Amino acid sequence: MSNQFKAAQQQHQELAQQLHHHNYQYHTLDQPEISDAEYDQLMQQLLAIENQYPELATPESPSQRVGSTPLEGFTEATHASPMLSLENAFNGEDLKSFDSRIKRFLAQTDDLEYICEPKLDGVAVALTYQQGKLIRGATRGDGTTGEEITHNVRTIGAIPLTLQNDFPDQLEVRGEIYMELEPFRKLNQQRREEGEATFANPRNLTAGSLRQLDARLTATRPLTISCYGIGEISGTAPETHFKLLQALRRWGLKVNLEVIKSAKNIESVISCYNELQQLRDQLPYEIDGMVVKVNQRVLQQELGEKSRTPRWAIACKFPARQEETILESVRLQVGRTGAVTPVANLRPVNISGVTVSSASLHNWDEIERLDIRVGDTVIVERAGDVIPDLVRVVKEKRTGNETPIEEPDHCPVCHSPLLKEADGVVPRCQNLSCPARLKEALKHYCSRGAMDIEGLGDRLIDQMLQLNLIKNIADLYRLTKDDLFQFDRMGDKLADKLLQAIAASKQRPLENFIFGLGIRHVGRHLAKVLSRNFKTLEELSNATGDELLAIHEIGAQVSDSVVRFFTDENNHKLLKALAELGINPHNNQQASSNRLQGQVFVFTGALEHFSRQEGQALVEAQGGRASGSVSKKTDYVIVGPGAGSKLAKAEQLGITILSETDFLELIKQEN
Ligand code: IVH
Repeated sequence: MSNQFKAAQQQHQELAQQLHHHNYQYHTLDQPEISDAEYDQLMQQLLAIENQYPELATPESPSQRVGSTPLEGFTEATHASPMLSLENAFNGEDLKSFDSRIKRFLAQTDDLEYICEPKLDGVAVALTYQQGKLIRGATRGDGTTGEEITHNVRTIGAIPLTLQNDFPDQLEVRGEIYMELEPFRKLNQQRREEGEATFANPRNLTAGSLRQLDARLTATRPLTISCYGIGEISGTAPETHFKLLQALRRWGLKVNLEVIKSAKNIESVISCYNELQQLRDQLPYEIDGMVVKVNQRVLQQELGEKSRTPRWAIACKFPARQEETILESVRLQVGRTGAVTPVANLRPVNISGVTVSSASLHNWDEIERLDIRVGDTVIVERAGDVIPDLVRVVKEKRTGNETPIEEPDHCPVCHSPLLKEADGVVPRCQNLSCPARLKEALKHYCSRGAMDIEGLGDRLIDQMLQLNLIKNIADLYRLTKDDLFQFDRMGDKLADKLLQAIAASKQRPLENFIFGLGIRHVGRHLAKVLSRNFKTLEELSNATGDELLAIHEIGAQVSDSVVRFFTDENNHKLLKALAELGINPHNNQQASSNRLQGQVFVFTGALEHFSRQEGQALVEAQGGRASGSVSKKTDYVIVGPGAGSKLAKAEQLGITILSETDFLELIKQEN
């Protein structure tokens, strides 16, 4: 073994350890210690070593998290013991009968202890660990045989590639892979903005992500897991289900223990059910009920199973958030990429406290698949997305007066012909100056996360277009006070404020600008990735497809789209005009000074003077680091109004607490 290889191996091992640690802190404990950028940097170093010594890229290497060469097809995975499903209960009465059935079967009258777990709405998986190493991930399938999805589960940060502490030699863990609501809504919103078809609910999105042959795609989906049981285990298993869940946690697996309750009898189970139902809307993920399990594992064994369901557990479902209403009409929306998507206008209906008057129809194939017609009675569900979902048509209620929904062949706004691209499902308006597209593009450019032009919302953008004041983004920077005076309710002060906000946007970092341009397939995250790799917009605009492809996380679709964007003549002219107007953003991620080197900052509360992102950028620009949670390592906590537990913890640990203005002073002093 050469010395060089030994050194590389040593460095690889250290990096892998650090990455595993930070991965665990972030995904399993929800207590990140470093920023995403720092994590990416460690990963890049590891990938560089593996590039030189491919033998170091073992299945347990953190590099597997990013996905590797696509598979040709899926293989079957037979389960060592069947993956059962659960019988359903719907209320307290059903739970009482469940309890009586068990007592009768066990011939006992004493109270039974139960564990109450949220019933997550995702995809069930079995993960096999041998000597602590993850060797297989499989879907449930028909309960006996599923599909092997090891390549995909390895990309899920909350799934450990190696176990910790006193793990057993052989272990098959079972759990639910799911996606939290916030990332789900964000992803759907992004797809909506980019003119892609949206997903009906987090479960469909999770299932779709796990059914990929190319794990690199799965890696981009923020999936997580909660483990709730086991198949096979070697050695002596814990005596109770609760102790088993604690052991799984100790071995490094994610278990949502915070919401799991133990109940000393069935009455207490019913209280837990009512409490969980109250909590349902506050949870960061979708649940559709509560699973009740007998705690003593010997009793579970004694009770056994009948056909495909265990006698020792039951799912007590929550009422579905669905209602019946009438589809009154369908409106067509034109997005900034020209995608024309159908949205259902519904007769307003109250679904668990929220009035719903429109629903997503996803795409034209879906309309055909569900055979939806105007005038139909339909079932609408609030399924996690901000926009509710149209689940199905109540065909029995058809009168014969319903009218089919025709797929349009012309843009409803500019009337130019629509074209379907390679993806085949979304018809798009090809006219770059279509007013509908322009409006959406402007809205996106001004939005938070992009150029963040405060005060420039829908209403003003609409007026600007109606008054013919702007034809593209560059025109924004040419607006004068006199132009603004043509708007409704525009005073001197407001006009000044708007012009200032527009001018201030010239200083936004490159990543915001790239995102604001609305390049297809380039969302906020990829805009950040691109900005990290190019110092100026000019460098990015001159990048070749190969140069882009060499960047980790950039695939063919994105690189093609970026190249296409910058070679388009209209875009070229627009960027030139913007540069002439003084919008020439560059990458200011590089630390401009190292005065805050090693100092850790935590921002909490509703910040009023700057966004969390801006605060983080200020800290990073001086070599400091922003963290999501307060620990002994934190140096400063910056508090905005409404700060809660993080402030309390900082006080308890005696950490310096700063107001937003104190913080800005500190940053200034350090300059
Ligand atoms: S226990 C024998 N616990 O619900 C035990 N299942 O119809 C079988 N699920 O396929 C499963 N959360 O996908 C269990 N806390 C939980 C669960 C859970 C969700 C799903 C699982 C299963 C289905 C049962």
